[in-house]
Amino acid sequence: MKYVLITGATSGIGLALARVFARKGFNIVMVSSSEKHLVRARRSMNERFENIKTEIIVQDLSLAGAAKRVYNKVSEMGIKIDILVNNAGYGLIGSSESIDMDKDEKMLYLNIITPTCLCKLFLKEMYKRGKGKILNVASTASFQPGPYNSTYFASKSYLYSYSRAIRHEAKGRGVQVCTLCPGTTGTRFFQKEGINTPIWAMSVGKVAEYAVEGLENNKEVIIPGTWNKIFRIIPSTLKLKVISMMKIKGH
Ligand SMILES: NC(=O)c1ccc[n+]([C@@H]2O[C@H](COP(=O)([O-])OP(=O)(O)OC[C@H]3O[C@@H](n4cnc5c(N)ncnc54)[C@H](OP(=O)(O)O)[C@@H]3O)[C@@H](O)[C@H]2O)c1
Repeated sequence: MKYVLITGATSGIGLALARVFARKGFNIVMVSSSEKHLVRARRSMNERFENIKTEIIVQDLSLAGAAKRVYNKVSEMGIKIDILVNNAGYGLIGSSESIDMDKDEKMLYLNIITPTCLCKLFLKEMYKRGKGKILNVASTASFQPGPYNSTYFASKSYLYSYSRAIRHEAKGRGVQVCTLCPGTTGTRFFQKEGINTPIWAMSVGKVAEYAVEGLENNKEVIIPGTWNKIFRIIPSTLKLKVISMMKIKGH
């Protein structure tokens, strides 16, 4: 049976993706920093899906060497990953100089370095097998700078760019790389940033369904929701003003 590895699979978009993949018959490897969250998520998966296996790996992905440790753990388990989903991530709100540097550094590690290293490690293996898929979860934040959320927006621009670049490298080698760019989605993301979830947030189930369908159709950039597709083409100068207002007001 096939395996999907999902980082940040204990809540929000990651957990919703795990459910969609499980319904399609995939075994799941869930990765997160919290054993408690993972055990709870695995229990809920086992209750819903009897015919698949759910494995867990506890790893804080904001630490140096995290990707290598996850990769080695998967090898020790004797599992071959068919689909890698780089989903774990969060943002920090405030003017750049006011955000604690250590916190920002960890966030950048989680949003940039770890997904890059996981791609590098699993790509090598996928190329050897001549098949595999990667879904990198960026954001509509990738499409412009985000004042008062600056490092988060920049980290998502990085992932968007890196992911699209390796997709081109993978052409003709049997491996697909797709980039998911959700807009505002109803998860604990905003609560963790210390602001209210906007009322227009898309349902996490819809985002996950659309994402998996996009991956199945090998879409280069997957943007769930019509408004999010429109948002992409609005001029950056206008978006910068709106984003500033939203982040300052929400904080
Ligand atoms: N919600 C939105 O509006 C939105 C929009 C665009 C893009 N996104 C992106 O979607 C992805 C998922 O976010 P979400 O909205 O689903 O948020 P969420 O519900 O807060 O989920 C975040 C997941 O990341 C994991 N995580 C956080 N820090 C971690 C760490 N240091 N090491 C390992 N795992 C860690 C969390 O698990 P533990 O707490 O158990 O470690 C959790 O499973 C993120 O990359 C986010 O940037 C979200």
